[in-house]
Amino acid sequence: MFESVRVGGSARPRVLIVGRYKDEPIDRATRSLSPAIAQAGTRPEGAGDVGSIAEAFPSASDGPERILLVGLGPRSDFTPGTLRQVGAAAAQRLAQIEARTAGVELIGPLRKARVDPQRAGCCMGEGVGLRNWTCETFRGSSTTTTRLPRLSLRSDDAAFTRGMRRGLALAESANLARTLSQTPPNVATPAWMASQARSLARKVALRCTVLKGPRLVEERLEGLVNVGKASVNKPCLIRLEYRPPRGRKSDRPVVLLGKTVCYDTGGLSLKINNSMKGMKRDKDGGCAVLGAMHAIATVVKPSRPVVGLLVAAENSISDQAYRPDDVLTFRNGVTVEVTNTDAEGRLVLADGLCWACQKEKPAAIINLATLTGGIVVALGGVYAGLWCDDDPLRDRLDRASQASGERLWRLPHHQDYRDMMKSPIADILNSAPVRAAHPIQGAAFLSYFVDEAIPWAHIDIAGVHAVEKDTGPFIAGPTAFGTRLLAELLSQD
Ligand code: BES
Ligand code: MN
Ligand code: ZN
Repeated sequence: MFESVRVGGSARPRVLIVGRYKDEPIDRATRSLSPAIAQAGTRPEGAGDVGSIAEAFPSASDGPERILLVGLGPRSDFTPGTLRQVGAAAAQRLAQIEARTAGVELIGPLRKARVDPQRAGCCMGEGVGLRNWTCETFRGSSTTTTRLPRLSLRSDDAAFTRGMRRGLALAESANLARTLSQTPPNVATPAWMASQARSLARKVALRCTVLKGPRLVEERLEGLVNVGKASVNKPCLIRLEYRPPRGRKSDRPVVLLGKTVCYDTGGLSLKINNSMKGMKRDKDGGCAVLGAMHAIATVVKPSRPVVGLLVAAENSISDQAYRPDDVLTFRNGVTVEVTNTDAEGRLVLADGLCWACQKEKPAAIINLATLTGGIVVALGGVYAGLWCDDDPLRDRLDRASQASGERLWRLPHHQDYRDMMKSPIADILNSAPVRAAHPIQGAAFLSYFVDEAIPWAHIDIAGVHAVEKDTGPFIAGPTAFGTRLLAELLSQD
């Protein structure tokens, strides 16, 4: 597709993108842009189905060479989010026809649906930007790659234009997370993730610190030390910090914590039957947090501090590996009997949660993790699982989810689930012998490492961090689920 997409450029774009709803006439404002539009609307592909595109070639020499009439679906179903799909479809067509400049004029239909043009523009920008992602880094000499053109987009509507600029920028943050996710585990080790975080910090003015080796032991980061010790690719805690320009020292940060298991073999409780394939993406919680920190530093610039924590380790096997039967003692004193080394995510997250509670004085903690296969069974790729018993935080997450289109479904905490995790010899087990309520068990385990007074949300993204086939604005592969969600959350104040 395009090397880059930006907003601005020529006031006379070669391509004009307009839209129509299904089952209603093209609105007058849109029709008045060119007589060729009405004609495109008479063709079957111009009937207004979401993402469909009919083309028209106006004869006037001073206007656009080509018009794309895109379908917006029935007006009753239309939301700004529809434009992610529309933007993705339009971007694909713009690439096919080798467009370099395009104008997007949807204000007629947007007015009819009483949709805020800035939010609409943002979704359009996200759709274009997300669809434009590819990762060609790992092509070799047997693939011919061509130089890609640049695209610039514009609109006559100022609010829509502002929105597109924001949407493209948010997509760029998400695309950074996707590229990290895509990077194979022989490259993307914990140390490599740390180097990526450091170079991000240099580029966008975040602070970055990395704890590794004896520092992890000193800080009693027991999960990282144990999960990571079988691999030559040693574990680390990556900390990114955003400080607002005019912030006060006493301002409490929001902590974003991401499971960053660079490869999950299952450890000695080895994954079988090819269930290991794809486990390079067990770092996607951390990738999404890194993407969110990018968005926070470049787009959102909130007035409160934000700390991103990536708990990075490779869950591997060797004679050094931690084992089922080991008992680990965490920073907060909680002891854990290891029953299954494949339940490693909760162990590294436990360190991150303890660290956040004890060191960061957080206003809230939100963790993202590809934690359980059970959440894939329960919710598939449609919703991520959300555990959050703090009403104000949950309300903020719901609003962020509405804005970003990343769907969350609430699941419960309960003392009975916490009791399921009790160990006969330590405080708790890392994996209970029963499969019942498996994703909830994971959340219950994590709750042992969070101070009750701190608002906390756990989001299990194992079902939504990647798609198997092209879906909405995403091609098959990583979705960066959480990056835009967290950016929207921090945009709220
Ligand atoms: N990383 C996996 C969870 C996962 C599964 C992510 C499928 C993405 C797709 C996690 O570490 C894991 O192995 N979970 C086990 C835990 C069990 C052994 C207690 C699971 O859910 O089966
Ligand atoms: Mn595992
Ligand atoms: Zn895992």
